[in-house]
Amino acid sequence: MSIAKKIAESSCRSSWIREMFEEGAKLSQIHGCDNVFDFSIGNPNLEPPEEFQRILEELVADRTPGRHGYMSNAGYPETRVAVAAYLSEDQGVDLTGSHVVMTVGAGGALNVILKAVLDPGDEVIVPVPYFVEYASYIDNHGGSLRPVGCTADFDLDLEAIEAAIGPQTKAVLINSPHNPTGRVYTAEMLGALGDLLRRKSEEQGCIIYLISDEPYRRIVYDGLKVPAVMAAYENSLIASSYSKELSLSGERIGYAAANPAIPHINAMMDALIMTNRILGFVNAPALMQRAIARLQGVSVDISPYQRNRDVLYQALTEAGFEVYKPQGAFYMFPKAPIADDVAFCREAQQHLVLVVPGSGFGAPGYFRMAYCVAPQVVDGAIPALKQMGAKYFKK
Ligand SMILES: Cc1ncc(COP(=O)(O)O)c(C=O)c1O
Repeated sequence: MSIAKKIAESSCRSSWIREMFEEGAKLSQIHGCDNVFDFSIGNPNLEPPEEFQRILEELVADRTPGRHGYMSNAGYPETRVAVAAYLSEDQGVDLTGSHVVMTVGAGGALNVILKAVLDPGDEVIVPVPYFVEYASYIDNHGGSLRPVGCTADFDLDLEAIEAAIGPQTKAVLINSPHNPTGRVYTAEMLGALGDLLRRKSEEQGCIIYLISDEPYRRIVYDGLKVPAVMAAYENSLIASSYSKELSLSGERIGYAAANPAIPHINAMMDALIMTNRILGFVNAPALMQRAIARLQGVSVDISPYQRNRDVLYQALTEAGFEVYKPQGAFYMFPKAPIADDVAFCREAQQHLVLVVPGSGFGAPGYFRMAYCVAPQVVDGAIPALKQMGAKYFKK
């Protein structure tokens, strides 16, 4: 058997979420599903909205010839126009369909963007903690991930970003609402980041792109609205998807959008369309493109996530855990009570609570809980959280 060394290594590194998920499946067989509390994976437990089901049924019944054939690599024009119209309003910047490429999820969009902008040896600055796949996505296209610290409450640390910028910097990659912390960056913070990248791009004589990974954009709590990255910085690109907001993660539908103010925007769009093709995606799934064209602005009812966030946050803090209250997404990232986060996750597993070590996100000493689960899972885990809290925090 001969497997590329890099792939063999990275499958060891990035397997925490999957490993915990598999453990959960095994434990469920032994103890019964109702007795295992699995917070390992960010797979939405809510069903897609009823409207999606209705539209899908209509689309499936449509026998117009050519519905299942190849199309332009960028996607159906009407889908791109619908996404652009939504984004124009959301971002406060005028986009047309020509600024959007439909992709195979946000993961596909990130790969399309990174392949379009990276030369070998380029660096992409990423605040820690981060979604584990970023390292592989950047490496896929010859770049390297340059991790930078964040503030104690998981906000961007602009000084750290500035210190990391050098001639090798091609982009800064941010994610808001954030996996794994639930942090949402403010408009002021994005504006300040935009100012920094503008100044540094000028100093260095080449553009530093801001890539914003936003699959959780519509999953925010307490009436918050996620500020617009395109309004904050002209050289910005968005990678997003309907995986989380419409609970369509298995359908693999998303998009890459570029700020019309990017110099040579037409060349950028040509590059994104080409990378979508040559990465082997060819185009995003046809049926889903036709569905989401009619579902702009629709999302699942997130009140069950909000309920889980509130109950879990209260339980963790009452048990003594230090944890940032998430403003969006469906993850919580508490500090582990011992330095060895992997050992702590193993201990939680003994209590049949499946959580993922912060090491899997570049941040040892923490653990992640994905609360896109049934309310019984949250409620059922509370006694174990209290027990662990009593062991470590109560004198
Ligand atoms: C931060 C982040 N970015 C991107 C993705 C990939 O999303 P998609 O399923 O749309 O490819 C995920 C999935 O969990 C994620 O958490």
